[in-house]
Amino acid sequence: MLERKKDVFFRRAKELGYESRAVFKLKYINSMFNILKNGSAVIELGCSPGGWSLYILEKIGKSGKLYAVDKVPLPIKHSYPQIEFIQVDILQSNFLDILSTKISSNLVDVILSDLAPNMTGKYELDYYRQIALVKVVLATIEKFLKPGGSAVVKIFEGPESQNFKKLLLSKFKFVHSIKPPASRKHSSEFYLVGLGYSGKTLLT
Ligand SMILES: C[S@@+](CC[C@H](N)C(=O)[O-])C[C@H]1O[C@@H](n2cnc3c(N)ncnc32)[C@H](O)[C@@H]1O
Repeated sequence: MLERKKDVFFRRAKELGYESRAVFKLKYINSMFNILKNGSAVIELGCSPGGWSLYILEKIGKSGKLYAVDKVPLPIKHSYPQIEFIQVDILQSNFLDILSTKISSNLVDVILSDLAPNMTGKYELDYYRQIALVKVVLATIEKFLKPGGSAVVKIFEGPESQNFKKLLLSKFKFVHSIKPPASRKHSSEFYLVGLGYSGKTLLT
């Protein structure tokens, strides 16, 4: 708690009306790559408590659409009709079918994932739980992202991370590894940013 109060990003987020300090990570990434545009259709995986969601809504404007997904409720109060919150565990085997009832295939401009498992502090366990989430993110990209679209995927540094980067490199025109300044220094998280999706199959 004390660490949170001292945290400059946490205080700035609250002052600006955002739910979490995580918003500064997406702001940083978007300032570099201009991924979120007026009118964009976006899927956001791991959206609660909603720091990213509010920022996405500001960027996509009234003509955009945000499908925000989390297994826990989204607590933000907002007046944006263009957000649809879907409460579901993405590790459920019918997750993509659930999304398909709401979203057409290969029509989404941007897919963002800030998914993270509940951390136990045991590195291997946390790492492979995160990898399981990343695999579902890739399946979601493959099903819903439109050719030319962009993706941002949170991943932890570890034995599989370079393989994921290579996989994305074969399907996106450009792939960048980004560690935003708002990421905690001791955290192994970083973000893979894919630009210009080829529309080809990601997973075999
Ligand atoms: C780091 S938080 C996201 C913070 C968010 N980007 C923000 O700005 O407020 C990670 C989120 O991933 C969600 N999550 C983790 N595993 C999940 C799963 N299997 N299905 C759906 N959501 C999951 C957690 O519930 C948590 O809300």
